[in-house]
Amino acid sequence: MGLDRSEIAKRAAAKAALDLVRDGMRLGLGTGSTAKWFVDLLGERARAEGLDLTCVATSLRTARQAESAGLKVVTLDEAGWLDLTVDGADEFDPDLNLIKGGGGALLQEKIVATASDRMVVIADQSKQVEHLGAFPLPVEIVTFGWETTKAIVEETLEDMDVAGTLTTLRMDGDEPFVTDCGNFIIDCRLKRIGDADELAAQLNAIPGVVETGLFIDICDRVIVGYEDGGVEVL
Ligand code: 5RP
Repeated sequence: MGLDRSEIAKRAAAKAALDLVRDGMRLGLGTGSTAKWFVDLLGERARAEGLDLTCVATSLRTARQAESAGLKVVTLDEAGWLDLTVDGADEFDPDLNLIKGGGGALLQEKIVATASDRMVVIADQSKQVEHLGAFPLPVEIVTFGWETTKAIVEETLEDMDVAGTLTTLRMDGDEPFVTDCGNFIIDCRLKRIGDADELAAQLNAIPGVVETGLFIDICDRVIVGYEDGGVEVL
């Protein structure tokens, strides 16, 4: 069965990112449907060329997939520092700032990307925006007192005049979605984000907020995949 057009675009971006991989590298592996392509293709290439790679996964899901693809997966502390992280994104703007966390792995994704010499995002063109904020901003919060934390987040968004329609607790069926680190996620629907740096700083200052899905000045390159199989590097 053929791939649908968005999968062709995601695969094209993932395949282009493979060219950045060299023997002996320590790699961070992202989470999501685009990163999944990268992990599959990386496993194939590592097998075919006998590459010695050490990988750190940003989620349990990715760790399982990478191991099944025959890749060596270690913890971030075992790896220490990474040469390159390849991950997807929910939005990227012209300055290569991102919204991430649609797949619920934002905290580990940010830790891994920050511990890398380079972070390269792979994404289909639908993720490209002029201004961040159409995608609901995921904010990871601790479970203790989560309703209070959510209320303070909402107040902060109002004060900064970025509050949109609704802030909701992410659900997994009838239960709250729980991240790999044991936290909840609230998804914040916003107006256009003006000062993403300031918004991230204000949200991170709230006790109970663990991390936000705003990735500011972390991403070095975006490889955009197109539905005709072409790519562009930004
Ligand atoms: C997971 C993420 C993903 O990278 C993001 O949601 C993009 O996913 P996809 O490639 O499936 O569109 O941030 O937490």
